[in-house]
Order: sequence, then structure tokens, then C-alpha cells
Amino acid sequence: MNVLELQNQFKVLFGESAAHTFFAPGRVNLIGEHIDYNGGLVFPCAITLGTYALVSIREDENFAVYSENFKELGIINISINDLEYRKEDNWTNYLKAVLKFLLESGHEIPHGLNILIYGNIPNGSGLSSSASLEILVSKLFSMMYDLDLKPTEMALLGKKVENEYMGVSSGIMDQFAIALGKKNSALLLNCGTQEFEHIPFVLDGYQIVIMNTNKRRELADSKYNERFNECTQSLTILKQTYPQISAICDLGEKELEKLDKVITDPILYKRTKHAISENLRVIAATKALENNDLVTFGKLLNGSHASLRDDYEVTGKELDTLVEAALAEEGTLGARMTGAGFGGCAIAIVKTENVDNFMANVGAKYKEVIGYDVTFYIASIGNGPCEIK
Ligand code: GLA
Repeated sequence: MNVLELQNQFKVLFGESAAHTFFAPGRVNLIGEHIDYNGGLVFPCAITLGTYALVSIREDENFAVYSENFKELGIINISINDLEYRKEDNWTNYLKAVLKFLLESGHEIPHGLNILIYGNIPNGSGLSSSASLEILVSKLFSMMYDLDLKPTEMALLGKKVENEYMGVSSGIMDQFAIALGKKNSALLLNCGTQEFEHIPFVLDGYQIVIMNTNKRRELADSKYNERFNECTQSLTILKQTYPQISAICDLGEKELEKLDKVITDPILYKRTKHAISENLRVIAATKALENNDLVTFGKLLNGSHASLRDDYEVTGKELDTLVEAALAEEGTLGARMTGAGFGGCAIAIVKTENVDNFMANVGAKYKEVIGYDVTFYIASIGNGPCEIK
């Protein structure tokens, strides 16, 4: 749906015109996977797919909210006095959580709102539709109530929603990538210190192709929390040998070489090896970009996927099939899963002139092996949250 159609729908639902329209992007992560909660470096970017909100002011203290993506739920009424999590409240839990935490930190919410939401990020695709929604509602509350929230504050608020309200132990990558999105730049973020830098990411003659497995991400959250817990156990063991560290990614090449002596449990060893080596790959990838060495950059993406497949074990048949098929194509610089894994999306960097053949061939291979279709999107790197005037 485009903005005009959304405005018409708003009038039908609420009997008046929307006063403001807001947008927040989704994200892809180029490299640095499953290390944001291990104090590592990540390198994501915001994309032009995202979530829209149309808003009008209410006289009372209530919120009437509707999502085009969950039409069947109709208009849902939320009272500012009842913001507790309830599973059946579905997507509105994210909105309630942001409101709850804003109120708890002393912000004033003097009146309610009518809100229409619409997202064009495929749900559960690993392109961060939930972080996009968190940052969108933070941005709209910030603008509607003059809260003046900074991008990093919105990002940390979104993370708090995931960790303390939704029960997912996720790191800070998605919310930072979205809140700090910048057109044609990727964000090099040190998740240990929260320092960041925007690095121009324009690939002359190449495109980022997003490949959606269309696999339902069942149990993804519980498997995610399992990996988080394994890393917590590893860190406790590592600290006996390296008491000065505060996260796994504080370790480097030298420690990686003798890691098998320090962590003897085979599963924990593999998880830790992934985290340390992935952090080193991010450093190498940004160096390669600086030197305009896209071939090395692509190889590092492939190395990241292999490590997530063999050591971190978060890929699965669908993602592996896509990446393998992508790498067999002419013009592919590199390919890897992106986001949490267990389904969701992979990305490939493909020479523009080869993109059509790439999609035809990878699409056919995926259908042959998996039995249903992959969906492709060509990603453009876009800005962070904004009001659309
Ligand atoms: C999800 C989480 C992020 C990050 C990635 C994996 O997207 O929300 O915090 O851990 O998985 O890199």
C-alpha cells in the first residue's frame, strides 16, 4: 500500500484525516552475526523497506490502534492504565511496551492517539520487522509528545522492549541499525562500547539481493535464547583464564589459536570460535572496503556463513541451499544468511548485469530442493526513522 492509500484507509477507520505520517526502516546485517550480545563489531544497514504509522490526536487518554498487516484483529483499544504484556494482544504488545517504559522513565503522555500501522517488511523474515515497529512508535511518541528522544535512546528503548517485555535476549544491533540508518552507508557498531561510525557503502555495478527463505521461524526465539545462554556459559569459563575480559569478543587471534585448551566442551568451543572469528572477519571486511577490495569483502561474507552453519549452527537447509545456489552463480561476490537465522533471509552481493539470471537460477534451484519458492528483493540502503511530510 502507498501513503495515499493508507491516508484513505485512515479516514475510513477513524472518520478523520491523519495529522502526521512516520516511517522507520528495516535492516540487513552485512557481516558480524550473533556477536552483538558478545561485545563484538557488527556492520548492518537500514533498508528502504520498513513500517509506516499514520496518526491523529485524541481528546482522551486512550489509544485506538490498527495494523493493515493484522487486519483481522480490527481496531484495538489500549488504555494507558493497562500496559501489561498479554500474548493475545499480538503486535500491540510492542506499542504498549514502549509506552510503559516511557511513562516509567518519567515522560508525560498527556493524551491518546489514533494510529494506523502498515509494514512492507515480510513478517518473520529476519529483516527486523519488530525492531522497525519499536523504533517507529518511539519516534512517533517522541515527535507527538515533544520528548526529544535521541536515536541511541530510541535504540536502547527498543532493546529493553525485547529483553524485558518480550523475553528475547537479543542484542543492540537491530535497533541501532534502524535508529541510526543513513542512506548509502552501513553502520560499524562496537556493541561493547556502543561507539559507532557510518561507512559509505555504495557498490558500483553491484546490488544487494535479499533472498527470503519463506520458512516460518518456528522456535526461533527459544533457539536464539539457547545460543545466548551458551555464550554466557563460555564467558564464565573464559574469565577463569582471562579475568580482564568483559565479553567473548574481547579475545582475538592469539586466544583463538589456543581456545581448545581453554574451552573443552565441544559445543561451547564451537560457539565461542564463531564469535571470536566473526569479530575478526568484521575487522577484515571493513579494511577490505577501505581498500576497495570487494572480492575479499565477498569472501569474508562466505566465511561468515560457513561459521554460522558449522560452528554456531543457526542456518538450516533452506538458508544453506540459498547460499550454495547463490555462490554457484556468475557475478556473485559473496553470500550469507543475515539476522538471527533459523530461516529468514540471506543476502548476496551480485553484479548488476547478472541479477536477472541470478534470480531465475537460484529461484529454480531452491524450488527443486526445498519444494516452495524463495522471494527476492533488491535492497536499497535508506535513512533512519522520520516524519514524512
Ligand atoms: C537478531 C537479534 C540481534 C542479533 C541478530 C544476530 O536479529 O535481534 O540482536 O543478535 O539476531 O546477529
